Amino acid sequence: MSTAWLNGRFLPLADAHVSVLDRGFLFGDGIYEVIPVYGGRLFRLSQHLKRLRNSLDGVRISNPMSDSEWEAMLNELVARNEGSDQAVYLQVTRGAAPKRDHAFPTGVQPTVFGMSNALTVNRDAAAEQGVRAITLDDIRWSLCNLKAITLLPNVMLRQQAIEADTAEAILINNGKAIEGAASNLFIVKNGLLITPPNSNCLLPGVTRDLVIELAANNSIPYRETDIPADDLLQADEIWLTSSTREISPVIQLDNTAIGDGKPGPLWNKMIVLYRDYTDAVRRGEAE
Ligand code: PDD
Repeated sequence: MSTAWLNGRFLPLADAHVSVLDRGFLFGDGIYEVIPVYGGRLFRLSQHLKRLRNSLDGVRISNPMSDSEWEAMLNELVARNEGSDQAVYLQVTRGAAPKRDHAFPTGVQPTVFGMSNALTVNRDAAAEQGVRAITLDDIRWSLCNLKAITLLPNVMLRQQAIEADTAEAILINNGKAIEGAASNLFIVKNGLLITPPNSNCLLPGVTRDLVIELAANNSIPYRETDIPADDLLQADEIWLTSSTREISPVIQLDNTAIGDGKPGPLWNKMIVLYRDYTDAVRRGEAE
């Protein structure tokens, strides 16, 4: 039985309950983070806590804990759960007010919840063959830089992708390819690695930032610039990145093969760099 953290105490996940008046339940009024754990160590914790603070500021919920309190709680949560590779989920909602009302309540404490599950990145041979994806119109709101729990559009889009027998939807907004329903987007064209710049249209992914850092440190040319939707099918490679997916090569988009329909050479190089990095995290030599 896994252990959760709810409003200041650890307890079995099955015993963690919140009120039906919680604004997370009534309005999707909250934010979240997903933090991978390698070898029992929290991956890029400072970046995740920075994004958490930014999401809280963006929706005007005051941060219920200091960074050092978050760190202590998260390390204990990891220690109390099984397995060396985990995915920690945390969520902060605006709390439970006595009455349902859209307006912010006063004098209500945020609800703070954390749990951790096994990190199940699919690294088997089949996954390394790459995944299929489809393009869909981006039907989300204008604050996609905040990691809000209000995920109904993402849920609908991802389900559409699954029903098309694909792994992810790549979202198109005003003729530009933005990101996946739950991942960031990279393409490779003529040896250049391209990802859209951070903006309110996409989530500033922690995995994305590491991929950019690894490119910079290993003399791989890259650019943060818009990707016209029409360029996708002409790309030599397409990748999707996220905490739970790492770097996933897309080999088919909208039923058309990308490149030669296999994970490309730059992906093969980057995934080695990425896994070397996560191994360094395991050894405590990188964050
Ligand atoms: N999602 N874009 C969106 C819309 C996302 O939901 C995610 C991650 C990312 C990648 O961010 P990161 O590299 O920091 O995980 C980009 C998480 C994993 C989720 O919702 O479960």
